[in-house]
Amino acid sequence: MAVGEGIDPSRIGERGLLDFNLYADERRDINLTPDYYGHGADGGYAEYIAVPSDQFHHVANPKLHDAELAAMGMCSYQTAYHMMTSAGIGAGERVLVTGASGGVGTALIQLCRVVGAIPYAVSQPDKADALIALGAEAVIDRGDLPTFVERVLATTGGQPIDAVMDLVGGEMTNLFIDTMIIDMQHRKRYPRLSIAGASGGNLSEIMWTRIYLYQVQIFGVSHGTREEAEQLIAWIRSGDLKPVLHAAFKLSELHEAERYFVNRGSNYLGKIVIVPDSQWQSHGAPFALNTS
Ligand SMILES: NC(=O)c1ccc[n+]([C@@H]2O[C@H](COP(=O)([O-])OP(=O)(O)OC[C@H]3O[C@@H](n4cnc5c(N)ncnc54)[C@H](OP(=O)(O)O)[C@@H]3O)[C@@H](O)[C@H]2O)c1
Repeated sequence: MAVGEGIDPSRIGERGLLDFNLYADERRDINLTPDYYGHGADGGYAEYIAVPSDQFHHVANPKLHDAELAAMGMCSYQTAYHMMTSAGIGAGERVLVTGASGGVGTALIQLCRVVGAIPYAVSQPDKADALIALGAEAVIDRGDLPTFVERVLATTGGQPIDAVMDLVGGEMTNLFIDTMIIDMQHRKRYPRLSIAGASGGNLSEIMWTRIYLYQVQIFGVSHGTREEAEQLIAWIRSGDLKPVLHAAFKLSELHEAERYFVNRGSNYLGKIVIVPDSQWQSHGAPFALNTS
Protein backbone atom coordinates (compact mmCIF):
# COMPACT_ATOMS: atom_id res chain seq x y z
CA MET A 1 0.00 0.00 0.00
CA ALA A 2 2.90 2.36 0.67
CA VAL A 3 6.68 2.39 0.93
CA GLY A 4 9.01 4.08 3.38
CA GLU A 5 11.70 6.61 2.62
CA GLY A 6 14.33 5.37 0.18
CA ILE A 7 12.32 2.32 -0.95
CA ASP A 8 11.48 1.95 -4.63
CA PRO A 9 7.83 3.08 -5.07
CA SER A 10 7.41 0.51 -7.85
CA ARG A 11 7.07 -2.06 -5.06
CA ILE A 12 3.61 -0.69 -4.23
CA GLY A 13 1.00 -3.29 -5.15
CA GLU A 14 3.36 -6.25 -4.94
CA ARG A 15 1.88 -9.52 -3.73
CA GLY A 16 4.15 -11.66 -1.67
CA LEU A 17 5.20 -13.36 1.54
CA LEU A 18 6.62 -11.89 4.70
CA ASP A 19 9.68 -13.41 6.31
CA PHE A 20 7.84 -13.20 9.64
CA ASN A 21 10.88 -13.13 11.91
CA LEU A 22 11.76 -10.21 14.16
CA TYR A 23 15.53 -10.34 13.67
CA ALA A 24 17.62 -8.84 16.42
CA ASP A 25 20.38 -7.77 14.03
CA GLU A 26 21.51 -7.81 10.41
CA ARG A 27 23.28 -11.18 10.48
CA ARG A 28 22.12 -13.36 7.65
CA ASP A 29 23.26 -16.80 8.76
CA ILE A 30 22.27 -16.93 12.41
CA ASN A 31 19.16 -16.03 14.44
CA LEU A 32 19.86 -16.43 18.13
CA THR A 33 16.74 -14.78 19.58
CA PRO A 34 13.86 -16.13 17.50
CA ASP A 35 10.70 -14.07 17.70
CA TYR A 36 8.04 -13.07 15.18
CA TYR A 37 5.19 -10.77 14.14
CA GLY A 38 2.05 -11.79 16.01
CA HIS A 39 4.10 -12.63 19.12
CA GLY A 40 6.96 -10.22 19.84
CA ALA A 41 5.24 -7.47 17.82
CA ASP A 42 1.63 -6.90 16.83
CA GLY A 43 0.49 -7.80 13.35
CA GLY A 44 -0.78 -11.39 13.27
CA TYR A 45 -4.35 -10.31 12.50
CA ALA A 46 -3.74 -6.73 11.37
CA GLU A 47 -5.24 -5.39 8.17
CA TYR A 48 -2.19 -3.17 7.61
CA ILE A 49 1.30 -3.62 8.96
CA ALA A 50 4.64 -1.88 8.37
CA VAL A 51 7.54 -4.31 7.87
CA PRO A 52 11.17 -4.02 6.75
CA SER A 53 11.12 -3.98 2.96
CA ASP A 54 13.87 -6.60 2.64
CA GLN A 55 11.71 -9.08 4.56
CA PHE A 56 8.74 -8.72 2.23
CA HIS A 57 9.36 -10.94 -0.77
CA HIS A 58 7.50 -10.49 -4.05
CA VAL A 59 5.96 -13.73 -5.32
CA ALA A 60 4.26 -13.13 -8.67
CA ASN A 61 3.49 -16.75 -9.70
CA PRO A 62 0.10 -16.01 -11.35
CA LYS A 63 -1.04 -19.64 -11.10
CA LEU A 64 -0.67 -19.55 -7.33
CA HIS A 65 -3.88 -18.26 -5.73
CA ASP A 66 -3.56 -15.80 -2.83
CA ALA A 67 -4.95 -18.37 -0.37
CA GLU A 68 -2.44 -20.94 -1.60
CA LEU A 69 0.38 -18.46 -1.16
CA ALA A 70 -0.88 -17.75 2.37
CA ALA A 71 -0.69 -21.49 3.06
CA MET A 72 3.03 -21.18 2.39
CA GLY A 73 3.28 -18.53 5.12
CA MET A 74 6.73 -19.05 6.30
CA CYS A 75 6.74 -20.25 9.91
CA SER A 76 6.40 -23.92 8.98
CA TYR A 77 8.77 -23.78 6.02
CA GLN A 78 11.45 -21.81 7.85
CA THR A 79 11.34 -24.16 10.82
CA ALA A 80 11.45 -27.22 8.59
CA TYR A 81 14.37 -25.94 6.55
CA HIS A 82 16.32 -24.86 9.64
CA MET A 83 15.81 -28.36 11.10
CA MET A 84 17.43 -29.73 7.97
CA THR A 85 20.29 -27.23 7.67
CA SER A 86 21.12 -27.65 11.37
CA ALA A 87 21.49 -31.39 10.84
CA GLY A 88 23.26 -30.87 7.51
CA ILE A 89 20.84 -33.07 5.58
CA GLY A 90 22.36 -34.09 2.27
CA ALA A 91 21.25 -35.81 -0.92
CA GLY A 92 20.53 -39.50 -0.60
CA GLU A 93 20.05 -39.46 3.18
CA ARG A 94 17.11 -41.29 4.77
CA VAL A 95 15.21 -38.77 6.90
CA LEU A 96 12.45 -39.71 9.35
CA VAL A 97 9.78 -36.96 9.28
CA THR A 98 7.52 -37.04 12.34
CA GLY A 99 4.21 -35.15 12.66
CA ALA A 100 4.27 -35.59 8.91
CA SER A 101 0.78 -34.39 8.03
CA GLY A 102 1.13 -31.07 9.87
CA GLY A 103 2.36 -27.70 8.69
CA VAL A 104 6.04 -28.34 9.46
CA GLY A 105 5.87 -32.03 8.50
CA THR A 106 4.45 -31.38 5.02
CA ALA A 107 7.13 -28.71 4.52
CA LEU A 108 9.83 -31.21 5.57
CA ILE A 109 8.65 -33.83 3.09
CA GLN A 110 8.80 -31.36 0.22
CA LEU A 111 12.14 -29.88 1.30
CA CYS A 112 13.74 -33.31 1.62
CA ARG A 113 12.84 -34.00 -2.01
CA VAL A 114 14.13 -30.57 -3.07
CA VAL A 115 17.60 -31.33 -1.63
CA GLY A 116 17.56 -34.96 -2.82
CA ALA A 117 17.01 -36.60 0.57
CA ILE A 118 14.52 -39.45 1.11
CA PRO A 119 11.68 -38.64 3.55
CA TYR A 120 10.03 -41.44 5.56
CA ALA A 121 6.80 -40.07 7.04
CA VAL A 122 5.52 -40.96 10.51
CA SER A 123 1.75 -40.44 10.50
CA GLN A 124 -1.56 -42.28 10.45
CA PRO A 125 -2.77 -44.81 7.86
CA ASP A 126 -5.65 -42.68 6.54
CA LYS A 127 -3.17 -39.98 5.48
CA ALA A 128 -0.73 -42.34 3.76
CA ASP A 129 -1.90 -41.85 0.17
CA ALA A 130 -1.77 -38.06 0.43
CA LEU A 131 1.69 -38.16 2.05
CA ILE A 132 3.03 -40.45 -0.66
CA ALA A 133 1.57 -38.11 -3.29
CA LEU A 134 3.36 -35.22 -1.56
CA GLY A 135 6.71 -37.00 -1.80
CA ALA A 136 7.06 -39.40 1.13
CA GLU A 137 9.00 -42.55 0.29
CA ALA A 138 6.88 -44.56 2.74
CA VAL A 139 4.50 -43.89 5.62
CA ILE A 140 4.96 -45.51 9.02
CA ASP A 141 1.91 -45.71 11.30
CA ARG A 142 2.66 -43.91 14.57
CA GLY A 143 0.41 -46.33 16.48
CA ASP A 144 1.65 -49.56 18.11
CA LEU A 145 4.86 -48.25 19.67
CA PRO A 146 6.41 -51.65 20.58
CA THR A 147 6.80 -52.53 16.88
CA PHE A 148 7.64 -49.00 15.70
CA VAL A 149 11.40 -49.42 15.14
CA GLU A 150 10.95 -52.78 13.43
CA ARG A 151 8.34 -51.30 11.09
CA VAL A 152 10.57 -48.33 10.21
CA LEU A 153 13.45 -50.66 9.36
CA ALA A 154 11.14 -52.84 7.28
CA THR A 155 10.40 -49.83 5.05
CA THR A 156 14.10 -48.96 4.63
CA GLY A 157 15.14 -52.54 3.81
CA GLY A 158 16.93 -52.76 7.16
CA GLN A 159 19.04 -49.63 6.57
CA PRO A 160 19.34 -47.16 9.47
CA ILE A 161 17.65 -43.78 9.34
CA ASP A 162 20.33 -41.11 8.82
CA ALA A 163 18.55 -38.27 10.64
CA VAL A 164 15.27 -37.69 12.49
CA MET A 165 13.22 -34.49 12.30
CA ASP A 166 11.41 -34.63 15.66
CA LEU A 167 8.24 -32.56 16.02
CA VAL A 168 6.61 -35.04 18.37
CA GLY A 169 8.80 -35.70 21.42
CA GLY A 170 7.21 -37.49 24.37
CA GLU A 171 7.52 -41.25 24.45
CA MET A 172 8.45 -41.47 20.78
CA THR A 173 11.85 -39.73 20.83
CA ASN A 174 13.74 -42.66 22.36
CA LEU A 175 12.31 -44.87 19.60
CA PHE A 176 13.28 -42.34 16.96
CA ILE A 177 16.88 -42.61 18.20
CA ASP A 178 16.67 -46.41 17.95
CA THR A 179 15.91 -46.15 14.22
CA MET A 180 19.33 -44.51 13.69
CA ILE A 181 21.77 -46.41 15.90
CA ILE A 182 22.01 -49.72 14.12
CA ASP A 183 24.74 -50.95 11.79
CA MET A 184 27.05 -48.12 12.87
CA GLN A 185 30.08 -49.25 10.86
CA HIS A 186 28.13 -48.81 7.64
CA ARG A 187 27.00 -45.29 8.37
CA LYS A 188 28.73 -42.44 6.58
CA ARG A 189 27.86 -39.78 9.16
CA TYR A 190 26.84 -39.48 12.80
CA PRO A 191 23.15 -40.00 13.66
CA ARG A 192 21.38 -36.64 13.93
CA LEU A 193 18.22 -35.58 15.77
CA SER A 194 16.69 -32.16 15.02
CA ILE A 195 14.04 -31.11 17.53
CA ALA A 196 11.56 -28.30 16.84
CA GLY A 197 8.26 -29.41 18.37
CA ALA A 198 6.50 -31.41 21.03
CA SER A 199 3.11 -32.41 19.60
CA GLY A 200 3.26 -35.73 21.46
CA GLY A 201 4.64 -34.48 24.80
CA ASN A 202 7.13 -32.12 26.37
CA LEU A 203 9.00 -34.69 28.44
CA SER A 204 10.96 -37.59 26.99
CA GLU A 205 12.82 -40.35 28.74
CA ILE A 206 15.98 -40.95 26.73
CA MET A 207 18.65 -43.50 27.48
CA TRP A 208 21.70 -41.29 27.99
CA THR A 209 24.30 -43.93 27.13
CA ARG A 210 22.81 -44.29 23.68
CA ILE A 211 23.31 -40.58 23.00
CA TYR A 212 27.01 -40.54 23.80
CA LEU A 213 28.08 -44.06 22.89
CA TYR A 214 26.42 -43.79 19.49
CA GLN A 215 27.38 -40.11 19.21
CA VAL A 216 23.89 -38.91 18.39
CA GLN A 217 24.03 -35.22 17.53
CA ILE A 218 21.06 -33.24 18.82
CA PHE A 219 19.95 -29.87 17.43
CA GLY A 220 17.36 -27.59 19.00
CA VAL A 221 15.66 -25.54 16.32
CA SER A 222 13.52 -22.43 16.26
CA HIS A 223 12.59 -20.54 13.11
CA GLY A 224 15.49 -19.84 10.79
CA THR A 225 17.75 -17.24 9.25
CA ARG A 226 17.48 -14.51 6.61
CA GLU A 227 19.51 -16.62 4.20
CA GLU A 228 17.22 -19.60 4.62
CA ALA A 229 14.10 -17.46 4.13
CA GLU A 230 15.51 -16.16 0.85
CA GLN A 231 16.30 -19.70 -0.34
CA LEU A 232 12.73 -20.79 0.49
CA ILE A 233 11.30 -17.85 -1.45
CA ALA A 234 13.43 -18.84 -4.46
CA TRP A 235 12.01 -22.40 -4.28
CA ILE A 236 8.45 -21.03 -3.97
CA ARG A 237 8.98 -18.79 -7.00
CA SER A 238 10.44 -21.67 -9.02
CA GLY A 239 7.52 -23.95 -8.10
CA ASP A 240 9.74 -26.48 -6.29
CA LEU A 241 7.61 -25.97 -3.17
CA LYS A 242 3.86 -26.33 -3.42
CA PRO A 243 1.10 -25.24 -1.04
CA VAL A 244 -0.70 -27.87 1.02
CA LEU A 245 -3.99 -26.05 1.60
CA HIS A 246 -6.65 -28.12 3.32
CA ALA A 247 -9.40 -25.48 3.46
CA ALA A 248 -10.18 -21.78 3.81
CA PHE A 249 -12.47 -20.25 6.46
CA LYS A 250 -13.95 -16.75 6.81
CA LEU A 251 -12.40 -14.51 9.45
CA SER A 252 -15.86 -14.18 11.05
CA GLU A 253 -15.78 -18.00 11.47
CA LEU A 254 -12.42 -18.01 13.22
CA HIS A 255 -13.73 -19.97 16.23
CA GLU A 256 -15.22 -22.61 13.97
CA ALA A 257 -11.92 -22.79 12.07
CA GLU A 258 -10.00 -23.29 15.31
CA ARG A 259 -12.41 -25.98 16.49
CA TYR A 260 -12.10 -27.72 13.14
CA PHE A 261 -8.30 -27.57 13.34
CA VAL A 262 -8.12 -28.83 16.93
CA ASN A 263 -10.53 -31.71 16.24
CA ARG A 264 -9.24 -32.42 12.76
CA GLY A 265 -9.90 -35.97 11.77
CA SER A 266 -8.89 -38.25 8.98
CA ASN A 267 -7.41 -37.04 5.73
CA TYR A 268 -6.36 -33.67 7.14
CA LEU A 269 -3.11 -32.46 5.63
CA GLY A 270 -1.26 -29.14 5.81
CA LYS A 271 -2.84 -25.76 6.51
CA ILE A 272 -6.11 -23.92 6.86
CA VAL A 273 -6.22 -20.31 5.71
CA ILE A 274 -8.34 -17.49 7.17
CA VAL A 275 -9.75 -15.00 4.64
CA PRO A 276 -11.31 -11.61 5.54
CA ASP A 277 -15.07 -11.74 4.85
CA SER A 278 -14.87 -8.82 2.40
CA GLN A 279 -12.56 -10.92 0.17
CA TRP A 280 -14.22 -14.28 0.70
CA GLN A 281 -15.85 -14.69 -2.71
CA SER A 282 -12.67 -14.18 -4.72
CA HIS A 283 -10.07 -15.59 -2.33
CA GLY A 284 -11.77 -17.97 0.11
CA ALA A 285 -14.80 -19.55 -1.56
CA PRO A 286 -12.77 -21.62 -4.08
CA PHE A 287 -11.09 -23.35 -1.11
CA ALA A 288 -14.08 -23.62 1.24
CA LEU A 289 -14.27 -26.82 3.25
CA ASN A 290 -15.86 -29.57 1.20
CA THR A 291 -18.56 -30.91 3.51
CA SER A 292 -20.33 -33.08 0.93
N1 LIG B 1 10.51 -24.48 16.86
C1 LIG B 1 9.78 -23.70 16.08
O1 LIG B 1 10.22 -22.64 15.62
C2 LIG B 1 8.42 -24.18 15.69
C3 LIG B 1 7.76 -23.60 14.60
C4 LIG B 1 6.54 -24.16 14.21
C5 LIG B 1 5.99 -25.22 14.94
N2 LIG B 1 6.65 -25.70 16.01
C6 LIG B 1 6.14 -26.86 16.77
O2 LIG B 1 6.26 -27.99 15.91
C7 LIG B 1 5.18 -28.91 16.13
C8 LIG B 1 4.45 -29.13 14.82
O3 LIG B 1 3.91 -27.89 14.37
P1 LIG B 1 2.84 -27.88 13.17
O4 LIG B 1 2.51 -26.47 12.91
O5 LIG B 1 3.33 -28.73 12.06
O6 LIG B 1 1.61 -28.58 13.91
P2 LIG B 1 0.37 -29.34 13.28
O7 LIG B 1 0.05 -28.79 11.93
O8 LIG B 1 -0.65 -29.31 14.35
O9 LIG B 1 0.91 -30.83 13.08
C9 LIG B 1 1.30 -31.63 14.15
C10 LIG B 1 1.22 -33.09 13.68
O10 LIG B 1 1.81 -33.91 14.70
C11 LIG B 1 1.16 -35.16 14.73
N3 LIG B 1 0.73 -35.43 16.10
C12 LIG B 1 -0.20 -34.78 16.83
N4 LIG B 1 -0.32 -35.30 18.06
C13 LIG B 1 0.58 -36.32 18.11
C14 LIG B 1 0.94 -37.27 19.11
N5 LIG B 1 0.36 -37.28 20.32
N6 LIG B 1 1.90 -38.18 18.81
C15 LIG B 1 2.50 -38.19 17.61
N7 LIG B 1 2.19 -37.32 16.60
C16 LIG B 1 1.24 -36.40 16.86
C17 LIG B 1 -0.04 -35.07 13.77
O11 LIG B 1 0.40 -35.64 12.54
P3 LIG B 1 0.01 -37.12 12.05
O12 LIG B 1 -1.46 -37.27 12.25
O13 LIG B 1 0.46 -37.12 10.64
O14 LIG B 1 0.82 -38.05 12.92
C18 LIG B 1 -0.21 -33.59 13.54
O15 LIG B 1 -0.74 -33.29 12.28
C19 LIG B 1 4.33 -28.27 17.24
O16 LIG B 1 4.74 -28.82 18.48
C20 LIG B 1 4.68 -26.80 17.14
O17 LIG B 1 4.49 -26.13 18.37
C21 LIG B 1 7.86 -25.21 16.40
